[in-house]
Amino acid sequence: MRIDIITIFPEMFDCVFDASIIKRAREKGLVEIRAHNLRDWTTDKHKTTDDTPYGGGGGMIMKPEPIFAAVEAIKGEEEAPVILLTPQGRLFNQTVAEELARHERLIFICGRYEGVDERVREHLVTDEISIGDYVLSGGELAAMVITDAVVRLLPGALGYERAAAEDSHATGLLEGPHYTRPPEFRRWTIPEVLTSGHHARVAQWRRQQALKRTLERRPDLLASAPLSEQDKRWLREMGYNGPFAEDE
Ligand code: ADE
Repeated sequence: MRIDIITIFPEMFDCVFDASIIKRAREKGLVEIRAHNLRDWTTDKHKTTDDTPYGGGGGMIMKPEPIFAAVEAIKGEEEAPVILLTPQGRLFNQTVAEELARHERLIFICGRYEGVDERVREHLVTDEISIGDYVLSGGELAAMVITDAVVRLLPGALGYERAAAEDSHATGLLEGPHYTRPPEFRRWTIPEVLTSGHHARVAQWRRQQALKRTLERRPDLLASAPLSEQDKRWLREMGYNGPFAEDE
């Protein structure tokens, strides 16, 4: 996969993409990530990327010409979604991450200032994504968040391959608690079932814990999570009576 990011702050990406799972994925050749300086596509002496809004009002608007030139040069003749990061976009979640991970290429445009010229939206961008209902100073942090969530889904990116499939949200549920050694810490012990060596009982306990935690913290997720009849029985025992998703 190749990810191109267009920004006026390319240096913001250096340490984030040079650590941990993203770094390893790049080293393994699973993903190539490039942060491009939008100013490289300006044509004036001052490398201007923004201007005042027509009709007045405060704030600055990102100019269309450098953004079009950057995307056209970076994209070439290839197919690639061109994604604008903006609080007005569709909300990012694990399903969107999985959808983006299926593309060979992604191009992100990081908005700054009050916004971008509307012609960028209308004639260049193919998708608009927000990472949450709050306003950041620009799309850069959103591009990092999305890149991280996408790259860890690429086959081979995680040391332990099943981990991504079991993550909170990947199953439509939150994960239950995890424990590691020591078995007793400050007199707090771990659930006995985990040391029983009984794999089926451990799997059942984990599933029940995931259901319980989701019910306690994010009951809204239960309405769309894929659940078995057994899951529904357990949830009813915990006091949840639906709604449930139509299909398993
Ligand atoms: N730019 C500013 N705020 C944003 C948000 N919440 N998501 C994506 N891009 C943004």
